[in-house]
Amino acid sequence: MKYARIVGTGSYLPVNVVSNDELSRRVDTSDEWIRSRTGIRQRHIAEPAQTSSDLAYQASLQALAAAGIAATDLDLIIVATSTPDFIFPSTACLLQAKLGAKRCPAFDVQAVCSGFVYGLDIADKYIRSGMYRRVLVVGAEVFSRILDWNDRGTCVLFGDGAGAVVLAADDKPGLLASVLHADGSQFGILSTPGQVCGGKVTGDPFLRMDGQAVFKLAVRVLDEVARETLALCNLQPADVDWLIPHQANVRILDATAKRLGIATDKVIVTVDRHANTSAASVPLALDVAVRDGRIKPGHKVLLEGVGGGFTWGAALVEM
Ligand code: ACO
Repeated sequence: MKYARIVGTGSYLPVNVVSNDELSRRVDTSDEWIRSRTGIRQRHIAEPAQTSSDLAYQASLQALAAAGIAATDLDLIIVATSTPDFIFPSTACLLQAKLGAKRCPAFDVQAVCSGFVYGLDIADKYIRSGMYRRVLVVGAEVFSRILDWNDRGTCVLFGDGAGAVVLAADDKPGLLASVLHADGSQFGILSTPGQVCGGKVTGDPFLRMDGQAVFKLAVRVLDEVARETLALCNLQPADVDWLIPHQANVRILDATAKRLGIATDKVIVTVDRHANTSAASVPLALDVAVRDGRIKPGHKVLLEGVGGGFTWGAALVEM
């Protein structure tokens, strides 16, 4: 049986770092409020000319270098993003062109903050079926473009960035199990309900959120889908070496770990430095912990996404 194994990780954060204090000069907020409610200290914000495919490109170069694989050897490119460069072509096609990886299929996945976990699940299916051997999965976002910078309830929560992994077919275990879910009836609690129509933006082009409803739903489904994924492998939460939930809010991470009975020192946290980078948050956190040596070969890592749609999912990976 062939597994899909993560053979390289990479990430990229724009150089411009915006602190809570800087935000408090733009909107009626404070470092104390943001830290105590979310754990966020700062976020990275892309330059006006930087797009999701630019961030994805930098993260992908790192992941390919770590994997020792040339872009031209890729069989498939998947980009998870809700802030694509254009309506079309897809950000994945633009990334493919930047990487010089001609001919392999490339497409975007739109599952908001769960997009990377959705992408992993899809890549796994292609590799296990024997159809493809090397797949690049990227989460890349410039959420700063869809924030209402006058809305203190949302603009303090998000940042820009990208994370990438290369998956390769291997006889050694890699992705052990993954589970995806969605509940479209919950679309109203987190959305950017705008569109381009007749040459104009219609509806509301900014991110809108019912924070408390999102909080409650996120904590419940992150617990449920973690257990569902582990059960497929006859494992318990205690068998996990590292938990990487979507980095939305440190209180969501703490509550999820508590419900699962996982010690907080086994949870990778980057939301304090990156804020919520949506589809990029999980691969960014994974890359940080691989590069700083916490995640080692053989470790079992449970990756979890949750976000607009509503969507959620988990993937258990042996590194
Ligand atoms: N600074 C200061 N005050 C603020 C700010 C701010 N940035 N934002 C809201 N407030 C005020 C509100 O106006 C309100 O004031 P009022 O009592 O005078 O009306 C007060 O703070 C409390 O507001 P709530 O919305 O009730 O605050 P809450 O404790 O729920 O915290 C938060 C808000 C942090 C958004 C919380 O609901 C949350 O973490 N929700 C999860 C949402 C999340 O993480 N979303 C990310 C996207 S979703 C995802 O990635 C899965």
